[in-house]
Amino acid sequence: MDKNEEIRNEAIKEINNSSDPASLEGIRIKYLGRSGKVTMILRSLAELPLEQKKIMGPKAQALRAELDSIIVEKKKKLLEKKHSALDVTRPGKKIGLGHLHPLSIVEKEIIDIFRSMSFSVIDGGPEVETEHYNFDALNIPENHPAREMHDTFWLSQNLTNNKRQMTNDKEFRKGDISSRQSSVVGGRLLLRTHTSPMQIRYMESHKPPFQIIVPGRVFRYEATDASHEINFNQIECLMVGKDVNLSNFKFIIEEFFSRLFKKSITVRLRPSYFPFVEPGLEYLIQCVKCGGKGCNICKNSGWLEVMGAGMVHPNVLRAGGYDPREYQGFAFGVGPERIAMLKYNIPDIRMFYGGDLRFINQF
Ligand code: PHE
Repeated sequence: MDKNEEIRNEAIKEINNSSDPASLEGIRIKYLGRSGKVTMILRSLAELPLEQKKIMGPKAQALRAELDSIIVEKKKKLLEKKHSALDVTRPGKKIGLGHLHPLSIVEKEIIDIFRSMSFSVIDGGPEVETEHYNFDALNIPENHPAREMHDTFWLSQNLTNNKRQMTNDKEFRKGDISSRQSSVVGGRLLLRTHTSPMQIRYMESHKPPFQIIVPGRVFRYEATDASHEINFNQIECLMVGKDVNLSNFKFIIEEFFSRLFKKSITVRLRPSYFPFVEPGLEYLIQCVKCGGKGCNICKNSGWLEVMGAGMVHPNVLRAGGYDPREYQGFAFGVGPERIAMLKYNIPDIRMFYGGDLRFINQF
């Protein structure tokens, strides 16, 4: 047998038998290394007469190329095997379980409490709302100063539906009159600034008496800071019947906060103004940290402002299709962010949507 052939067979056999990258490297050196068997053949060519060199040269070159590619292939296979090999002695990997966002936890708690008090939980409502539901039907006509309280994201109407652009109030007011004319039933479109539009939407399609809560996302065109976000949540509460009154409200809200913070909490009502309620009020709860003595959380006042409430304005009942001489009701809002911040001692509202896992993973 030709010497090349002999070396080839021997090498291939060894390569096939090798079972790890280190021994394979040994084989490579043995044949293709600086003083490897194939290398030596190539070197010895120099001493051969030209005629033989012409025959032996290409043969030896081909052998080197062949062995080289076989070794490369084998090495690839060995490495793959090494990675896929199941090492039963390695410790298992812990699969991370998802968990609820702090706002979801709080929202669930709030919903559970109201449900246990016979409130129905109504889903959502549109986040892109019409001017009619967000303002007019809630007794906030155009040019009403109360609209100033709601810094609004308006959607431009002079663009086609799928190309609507967001503008803020100031840009919007600068816009030409034609773009301010309503092109949809219910007036111009906006991102709802509160969940109160759901009062109207619900009344339009339901008969009293009822008591509902409506959790939802709202938007305000505002500079953000530790207590303001452009996007936050509200839970709208509405109870309508023939003899619903403010003392019912006071009982429910005190019961609610006492259950939520698991201690008896006194609520204080203070006059305020919202066009869709009359009388309108602001409710405050006894500071959940100091119990009313005064601390940094309540800025030494002993009280924490929560949100607005009041008896539903007759105009709003009418807009919902009810006769205000027959029915009355109260409405109030709850802010899940505010409650979560109090409950978990969260100093900055922007943390909720900041996407920092070091914050989120604490819950
Ligand atoms: N919608 C009001 C706000 O966003 C809160 C409110 C709700 C006030 C219900 C009174 C009654 O500020």
